[in-house]
Formats: sequence, structure tokens, C-alpha cells
Amino acid sequence: MDRGLLNRRQFTGGCTAFGLSLSAASAMVAVHASAEVSETDSALKPAGRTVKLPDGTTVPALGQGCWHLGQGRHSPAVEEEALRTGMSGGMTLLDTSGNYGNGRSEELLSHVLAERRDRIFLVSKVEGNEVAGQGIAHACAASLARLRTDYLDLYLLHWPVSSAQFPGVVSAFEQLRTARKIRAWGVSNFNVGQMEDLWRVPDGHRCATNQVAYSLNNRRIEHDLLPWCRQHNMPVMAYSPLGGDKNLVVSDRTLAQVGGEHGCSAAAVALAWVIRDGNVVAIPESGSPAHAKENAAGLSIALTARDLQTLDAAFPGPVRST
Ligand SMILES: NC(=O)c1ccc[n+]([C@@H]2O[C@H](COP(=O)([O-])OP(=O)(O)OC[C@H]3O[C@@H](n4cnc5c(N)ncnc54)[C@H](OP(=O)(O)O)[C@@H]3O)[C@@H](O)[C@H]2O)c1
Repeated sequence: MDRGLLNRRQFTGGCTAFGLSLSAASAMVAVHASAEVSETDSALKPAGRTVKLPDGTTVPALGQGCWHLGQGRHSPAVEEEALRTGMSGGMTLLDTSGNYGNGRSEELLSHVLAERRDRIFLVSKVEGNEVAGQGIAHACAASLARLRTDYLDLYLLHWPVSSAQFPGVVSAFEQLRTARKIRAWGVSNFNVGQMEDLWRVPDGHRCATNQVAYSLNNRRIEHDLLPWCRQHNMPVMAYSPLGGDKNLVVSDRTLAQVGGEHGCSAAAVALAWVIRDGNVVAIPESGSPAHAKENAAGLSIALTARDLQTLDAAFPGPVRST
């Protein structure tokens, strides 16, 4: 029996709490493609807004960022509840890093993971200054120890290193994959030139994703990186999808107005916009259960062509140079 799977009563209770019909909520539950579905819960087939990774794994289009968790912004109990609330709403991908709060983010996640590891798609990261020698293997072992788990679903290089180091990085990631310490690997903050260089390295095309900043008020990747990733069948993982701590879009009036029409918050509309094309996974962070619940609603919002036009007018993308 899959320990992490919600039983029907828990699930129906969750639906009521979210103000959703069972079918709508079922559509929001997105999990790892290979996850088992028990007989009792076979009616709750994962569907809804998901994104396919290059190896065929399906992940929810919304996950949860964990950068500031475990560092006193909210109490640990409240932050864990926020993660559980988000997961009940379908945001079962969790994004952390070995360097978030010097490992405290990973330590906090270990409590949530212990309850439902098989239902979580776990992402962590290694730093550019850790890649020399056996550095990636050591950093991975340290992350696994803090997370108290045997494997990561995805391991990312947090920031680019010089292209000359790419072969060593790819080879270290591939060794971890063969050893089943990680199921896939990817990069973060790479531009198109760096992606091209990576593709020239043996096994470089095994990269599962590039995690970069993307939100309504930061649309820089739309001209080059987003189309490049689409052409290469590689999804983008959008960080700071609400604009990030210092530039949040959640109090924007246009977003509130569109949210009013869909019966959801401005934040949910902003997230639905980021994941609108099926090739982007967004990882909003929240240590607040109420915010996590709002954010999860973004998984089930279908923005209309008119909504998209309205949002384009309010948040114009970068102007194309001719
Ligand atoms: N790869 C990289 O270089 C990189 C860089 C930055 C971030 N990241 C990843 O991306 C994740 C998210 O990015 P981020 O934290 O920069 O930005 P973000 O998710 O756009 O914004 C987070 C902020 O939004 C607030 N918030 C969340 N939901 C809300 C809601 N429904 N209503 C109002 N406020 C809400 C949060 O506060 P509350 O806690 O109070 O809700 C927090 O202050 C990080 O946790 C991290 O995992 C990766």
C-alpha cells in the first residue's frame, strides 16, 4: 500500500476544504508517473496540469519552493503544514538546495518526506564551487543525509560553471544516476549559449530541465531560452514565479480582477499564467498554509484568450529587437 496516498475520506475532506468537486480536485492531483495508485483510490487517477520531463516522468506543473523554509520566517510546524496543504492540492514537487539556510531547508523537508516520500518529486541542488573532484558526489551525500532519503528525483547545478567544466559535471551526475542516488539531473540559471555548450558534451542532452526566473513581471526568457527549451523538448522550471520576495505581483489590480472572474486569488492567476503552455513547472514558495492553498488553485485554472490578452497588456513582455 502506498503510504502517502490519501484515502477517499481524506481526499473528499480535502476537496471540501478546497471548495472543489471531487472530479476537479482529482484533476489537480499530479504525481510521479511511476507512482502506484492503490485499488481503493484508483478512481483518483492523477491528471490535470502536469509537465512531462524528457525521460517521460510526469510532474505537477506547480511545485513548492523551499528556499527560506526552516529559517524562522514562520514556525517549523506552520511551514510543514503549508507544505502538506500544498501537497494535498497537488503541488507534490518540492524544490530545495544544499545551501538553503546552510542545509536547514533540507532538514525541515525531511519531516514531510518521511511521511510520503513516494508521493513527492524531490529536487535539490549543488553549488558551482562544489563541482571539482568528488565534490558533486559529496554534496549529494550530504543532501541525502539531511533529507533522510536514499535518492533525489532531480539534482540541479545551481549556477553555471565554465563550459570547460561541463564534461566533468555531466559525468558526475551520470555516475550518481547509475548509482541510483538521483533519478535525473539538470541545470539552473543557464542562458542559451550555455545550453548549447552543454548539448555538445557527451550525455549533455540528458539534462532534464533548466531552472530560471520567470514570472509576469520578469519575462526575459521568452525571446530565447523558452523557445530553445521547447525546441529541445526540455521543460523550464520557473523560480520566483510570483515575482520573488521583493517584487511580488500578488497585489496587482489586474490579477485580482481576473482572479475575481475565476473565483481565485491574484496569486493563483499569476501561477496559472506561468504554467499556461504546458512546458513550464513553477515553484512558488510559501510558508503559509493559506497561501499554499491559494497557490495550489493555480493548477486548475484555465485562463481564457481574453485573460491572456488582459495580462499581456498589464505585464508586457520584453520588446523584440529588429
Ligand atoms: N535556482 C535558483 O537560482 C533560485 C533562485 C530563487 C528561487 N529559487 C527557488 O524558487 C522558489 C520560489 O522563488 P522565490 O521564493 O524567490 O519567489 P516567489 O515564490 O515568487 O515568492 C515567494 C514569496 O511570495 C509569498 N507568497 C507565496 N504565496 C503567496 C500568496 N498566495 N499570496 C501572497 N504572498 C505569497 C511568500 O510569502 P509567504 O511565505 O508568507 O507566503 C514569499 O514571500 C524558492 O523557494 C526556491 O526554491 C531558485
